[in-house]
Amino acid sequence: MIIKYGCSRFVILTKKYAFKFPQFQYGWRNFLLGLLHNMQESKWNKLKDERLCPIVFYLPGGWLTVMIKCRELTRKEFLTFDRNIFYPYPEDISRFNIPVEDKEDSFGWYRNKIVAVDYGSWHDLFKAKWKIINKNVLVKILFHKAKKVINKWSSLIFRHICQNIKNPESKMD
Ligand SMILES: Nc1ncnc2c1ncn2[C@@H]1O[C@H](COP(=O)(O)OP(=O)(O)O)[C@@H](O)[C@H]1O
Ligand SMILES: [Mg+2]
Repeated sequence: MIIKYGCSRFVILTKKYAFKFPQFQYGWRNFLLGLLHNMQESKWNKLKDERLCPIVFYLPGGWLTVMIKCRELTRKEFLTFDRNIFYPYPEDISRFNIPVEDKEDSFGWYRNKIVAVDYGSWHDLFKAKWKIINKNVLVKILFHKAKKVINKWSSLIFRHICQNIKNPESKMD
């Protein structure tokens, strides 16, 4: 078992998991940030984005987050990997940035891929949230439009059938 210390959390690393707790070492403010960072990570985790280290368990209120333990990056790996996938916005507006600091202990290896292990900061969550909300709104709008089209066409077909039933000879013309 190894214990690692960040600015706002201490992390107990077991063979498979990383247990992340807020810590007092750097004062009250950082302790509160530790709680918030844990809460943020659990929110981000819901996006199931492949750039994030998955969370397997968390306690409400930010008291504990349990992540899969990742293998650390070597200095060379950190300097050479393609970090653009973590920060594609604004070049690629279809993908949001991951709030991960560009430093080597914020990343790790998970299933042969480099993922963010420290993504509890604040920026960009709103954008990500908007993406989810927008998706839901889009689905609702599309559903509404589809319903309108179906209604319109079914009433037209219905009217056509009724007309044909009323004067069947019109069919003969
Ligand atoms: N999932 C993980 N796998 C392996 N090590 C981790 C994991 N999460 C955190 N760590 C280690 O613990 C350190 C502190 O965690 P971190 O999330 O960076 O806390 P803080 O938000 O306080 O910076 C990290 O720099 C990293 O070395
Ligand atoms: Mg950190």
